[in-house]
Amino acid sequence: MDKLIIQGGIKLQGEIRISGAKNAALPILAATLLADGVMTISNMPHLHDITTTMELLGRMGCELTVGEKMVIQVDSRVIREFFAPYDLVRTMRASILVLGPLLTRFGRADVSLPGGCAIGSRPVNLHLEGLAAMGANLQVEGGYIRAVANRLKGCDLVMDLVTVTGTENLMMAATMAKGVTVIRNAAREPEVVDLANCLIKMGAKIEGAGTDTIRIEGVDGLTGTEYEILPDRIETGTYLVAAAMTRGHIKLKNTQPALLEAVLAKLHDSGAELTTTESTIEIKMNKERLRAVSIHTSPYPGFPTDMQAQFTALNCIAEGTGTITESVFENRFMHVQELQRMGAQIKIEGNTAITSGVSKLKSAPLMATDLRASASLVLAGLVAEGATEVNRIYHIDRGYETIEEKLSNLGAQIRRVPG
Ligand code: EPZ
Repeated sequence: MDKLIIQGGIKLQGEIRISGAKNAALPILAATLLADGVMTISNMPHLHDITTTMELLGRMGCELTVGEKMVIQVDSRVIREFFAPYDLVRTMRASILVLGPLLTRFGRADVSLPGGCAIGSRPVNLHLEGLAAMGANLQVEGGYIRAVANRLKGCDLVMDLVTVTGTENLMMAATMAKGVTVIRNAAREPEVVDLANCLIKMGAKIEGAGTDTIRIEGVDGLTGTEYEILPDRIETGTYLVAAAMTRGHIKLKNTQPALLEAVLAKLHDSGAELTTTESTIEIKMNKERLRAVSIHTSPYPGFPTDMQAQFTALNCIAEGTGTITESVFENRFMHVQELQRMGAQIKIEGNTAITSGVSKLKSAPLMATDLRASASLVLAGLVAEGATEVNRIYHIDRGYETIEEKLSNLGAQIRRVPG
């Protein structure tokens, strides 16, 4: 297994380009199953989760071509299987997103239950309850969801919890259901809006995406279209934290500040100086030392859980005490024990981590456990004394396009050692 070796103590300087959003690309790739025509998707990030999803679509019989700059074309008109196997789904939970499209267009799907992951049990009960309410017949046997439906029927759905992929799955299922579906307590994430905008370009009738109530009027079919994935707000936030922690000065291009206002507000509170345009963010540290901040994660537009680990790392070297409360997932502090091995002062009480900033972290061999925890360990390595080794970085390759190249372009001393 590959590892990263990071030499700490270097201030990041320079400019990098932000990639397309992983969590928009995944549902939009699933949406290609709805198209009676070729889909052309641009600004696709080059990530392991994307290649896994493309392999899944390919196994179903879709024709895929990858052009230059990762412009991907998908033709699902020749699909011959409606099956998402365990060996792929277990490595990429978001494969559950093929369930809604397969059911509403082809009336059948056999999809492996995703199972849990390091950050939580990650049930998909709300996806299944919504599809059943729309008339699907779902049996769970042998670890698979066996689903059939003549034609899904639109209905009024009230989500017990705000679920991003649950909202996306049900919104896709509703695009070709008979009648109107209303999803209440819907997720408002920008990636849900990006998916809705793509579906609307394909001919879907959707109103209210980005609010907590989405109304979808079913149509008989959707066409192919061209679509550009929106920038990745979590990649953006991660590099901003890297610049703040190293007290550097960087500029991020091809991003959208409006997608991460809650994160920018906390960076400002920690003492960072931010300058933004519609598509760029510049950050520099005007204080000698960061101030610790307090975070409470919640669904969009609240502070994103996917930025929690990165801010935990920031607090480790910031002045004062900070509290980080994780209210979305039940086990998303796996990075804490690794940071403690670097000398971080963190105490966990329930779903809250209480941090007391130290002036220096010490390098140590570390183990990545999940995507965003891995990112927080790389951030800590950028400021630690000595060379930090982060093992099992396949986790990080799932969500950060060429992270060592981008950090090197900002002056970091980081290298990948094949394991
Ligand atoms: C999406 O996961 C993202 N993944 C996650 O990003 C992100 O952390 C999460 O939303 C929250 O923002 C993708 O979009 C591919 P949820 P998702 O359903 O949809 C519970 C990353 O790092 N729940 O919004 O799986 C669930 O257990 C990844 O890029 C149910 O109980 O998350 C959790 O506690 C990690 N039953 C809460 O809801 C359900 O049927 C929110 O989960 C569905 C969810």
